[in-house]
Order: sequence, then structure tokens, then C-alpha cells
Amino acid sequence: MSARALATDYGAAGKDLLSTEGIDRAFVERVLTEAASFEEVLRRPVPVVPVMRGITVAVAFFEPSTRTRISFELAAKRLSADVISFGATGSSVAKGESLIDTALTLRAIGAGCIVIRHPASGAPGQIAKLLDVPVINAGDGRHQHPTQALTDLFTIEKRRGIQEGLRVTIVGDIVHSRVARSAVWLFSRMGFDVVCVGPPALLPLHKEGWPCRFHSSLDDLLPETDVLMLLRMQFERGAGGRVGSAEEYRAFYGLDSKRAEALPEGALIMHPGPVNRGLEIDPAVLSMENCVVTEQVSSGLAVRMAVLYLLTVGRLAESSGDGSESR
Ligand code: CP
Repeated sequence: MSARALATDYGAAGKDLLSTEGIDRAFVERVLTEAASFEEVLRRPVPVVPVMRGITVAVAFFEPSTRTRISFELAAKRLSADVISFGATGSSVAKGESLIDTALTLRAIGAGCIVIRHPASGAPGQIAKLLDVPVINAGDGRHQHPTQALTDLFTIEKRRGIQEGLRVTIVGDIVHSRVARSAVWLFSRMGFDVVCVGPPALLPLHKEGWPCRFHSSLDDLLPETDVLMLLRMQFERGAGGRVGSAEEYRAFYGLDSKRAEALPEGALIMHPGPVNRGLEIDPAVLSMENCVVTEQVSSGLAVRMAVLYLLTVGRLAESSGDGSESR
């Protein structure tokens, strides 16, 4: 199969996974199904399948990460792919090599799929246009982090099922958050009722076009929330300058045990991490049974296996009518 054949579309996700805006629901459902299947693989004594043998995945991170980077690398290894792990420090980026030339180099060296995190919104889209292999956005600036949203959806599915009208409240630093942007588009596509809440200075200035409602009082929303998603205050992007003080933020938007008790029974508490303990969420809340922060991390491995698989060999297996890869 030629590299060009690899570039054929896969549903509305296309060759790449860059954004959840306009994402095809059938593709999302396929990711959830495959992720459930890969979770079963991960429970085996030898949690490895040979489905991506011979394919090289380049994991190129131009911004810090713990969860996303490690889970993509491990996901590729669990699928028997070869992994090139690339960081801006210690590479020729430090000598001034451009993103485009870096991407062309990774392709020339044999990468059959590129996973990229970059501080510039739109950077993964730029290299996706240039390359004939799948590009997966692992977080670009304030723009999008689609595999985080899919991970969170998978976590919700396992705990609550996918229910039309599920009430999701996203709290905090919305304006700087690629997690929020990815979540509102994906969750609204699934028929959830999404509201973003935070201090006015941390909400987007231009709210038109966002497929959700906005609110400023968290306490008003808690009794009618099925899933509460807290966001990290992005101090590195200037969030601190938009609120009076950390204490003030915590007083109105921090989740302590008292606020957690105002949620309906069975409501989920989520946070994509990394967490500012004691600011967005109190340590006592992190150990509550309905707080699924560590489950989100675990779900991320199976979801990233599903995305890697579907955008590479899964698509080829479908186009050849052969879905019988060894699992
Ligand atoms: N949630 C998330 O993207 O975490 P990392 O920055 O650690 O990858």
C-alpha cells in the first residue's frame, strides 16, 4: 500500500485528527468501540497486539506534557509500532530548524504517523497539509486537544453512558483552554447540554459560535450538573492577571467538599490534569469515589490506541474489507 493510499479520508476526521469541531459522530462512536476493545487487551498478562507492526509513530512535543506524551508513546508500543520520541530541546529545533523542515525530516526518516503538540494554534494543521501521513493534534496553543476530549467522553461513557441531554458544566479558565474548546464541540455533537462557567475575564470575549451556554455562578449550576469538568488555571498563558487573586478564584470557583455535596448523586467530577491542588479542586475531593481524574488518565491510553489504530491500519483494513487483524 503506497503512502498516498494512506492519505485517503477516514470519515469526517479525514486523514488527520486535528479538531473536534465538525467531527463525524460515526468516527467518534468507532473510537469509543475500539477503545473498549483495547481496554480488554490492556487487562491481559501481555498487553500488546501486533496491529501496527512495521509502522513508525513520531511523537513530537514542542511543549511540556506528562499524560499525553507518555500515553501516546505507550499506546504506540502496545500496538507494536516503532516510536520516535522527539522534543524541541536537544533537537535541531534548538539550532533554528523550522517546524515544516522538522516535519519533513520525520517523514523522510520513515514516520508513518505524526503526533504533535505545539504552542502555536494551527501548527498541526499546517504540517498535516504538507504530509501524506496522518497527523494527530496532541494540543496546539489555545485551539484544540481532540484526544483529551475523546478520552473524557470515553470516561463519561463508562460511568454514565452516552445520554442525550447529559448536563456538563465546564469550570474555570475557559478562554485559554484547548481542553474546553475540544470538549464543547465534541460533547455538543453527542447531544450533551454544555455550559461553561468562570469569572467573566476568563470566559471568551466573542462567545458567538461556541455550541454551549455561558454562566458566571458555579453555585447556581451545581444542583443541575451531571458532569463537572474543572480546568487548570493556565498561569503560563496569563490567567493569573485576569482574576483578583488565587484566594478569590478559589472562593467562587474552587471545588471543595461542600460544593461537591451540592452535586446530584452520581455526578462525575473531572479534571484533565495537571491539577493545581487546592485551587481548582481540594485534595479531599480528589479522593471521592465520583472523582474520576485518574480514570481519565487510564482511559487516555486506550483512546490513543484507538485513534492511532483507526487513522493508520484501521482505515486500510476497512478499505480492503479485511477487519481481521490479530488482537
Ligand atoms: N491533560 C494534558 O494534556 O496533560 P499533559 O499536559 O500532562 O499532557
